Amino acid sequence: MNRGLFITFEGGEGSGKSSVIKKLIAELEGKFPLLLTREPGGTKISEEIRNIILDKENTDMDYKTEALLYCASRRQHLVEKVIPALEKNISVISDRYLDSSLVYQGYARGIGIDDVLSINMFAIENCIPDITFLFCIKPEVGLNRIASSSREVNRLDLEKLDFHKKVHDGYMELAERFSDRIYKVDAEKPFEEVYEQVQKKMLEKLKEHYE
Ligand code: TYD
Repeated sequence: MNRGLFITFEGGEGSGKSSVIKKLIAELEGKFPLLLTREPGGTKISEEIRNIILDKENTDMDYKTEALLYCASRRQHLVEKVIPALEKNISVISDRYLDSSLVYQGYARGIGIDDVLSINMFAIENCIPDITFLFCIKPEVGLNRIASSSREVNRLDLEKLDFHKKVHDGYMELAERFSDRIYKVDAEKPFEEVYEQVQKKMLEKLKEHYE
């Protein structure tokens, strides 16, 4: 049996990716076999690991510890939820995955993209996305969106603007390095335009795979 497509969404804070995904799923559900997830994906072990990472009180967490915890959470979610679906030819859409670690831990925290990539390769064993939608937005614009919405602000949102600028630069570097799978979307455009661009590409991929 064919393996489903593994589709990921990436981007800095306030890029609007989650709203686009929500609308997309509402439209495509029932037309294609899809599973929407996000790390830690509701899996108990991943959830517990993630709670340690995002706890606002854990301000003294070592950067490599953080990277390893993300990796551990990712692996559990992958093995418990993502791979079983892909093996049933269900396409999996994940809100954030590998590239978030490469950028947030590897680039912005300064551990190095290659080191973070190598611990992740141990964890994911070559389970690389077929396509990654990268929502590109200037950090100032993204952070302003968050400030004016009601979404709860987490520990990482509170980092300085400088950190978010690094996140942006890191994503741009990845887009060049993995240009075969990373599809850039200008997320500063109005929602409808962003949505249409993503929907078009997504339909193209799904039709190519299932029809
Ligand atoms: P969340 O509120 O889920 O973010 P968003 O709505 O922006 O997707 O918070 C996830 C935070 O965790 C976000 O700031 C990015 C960060 N993160 C990493 O630093 N490394 C990772 O590997 C992942 C998956 C997320």
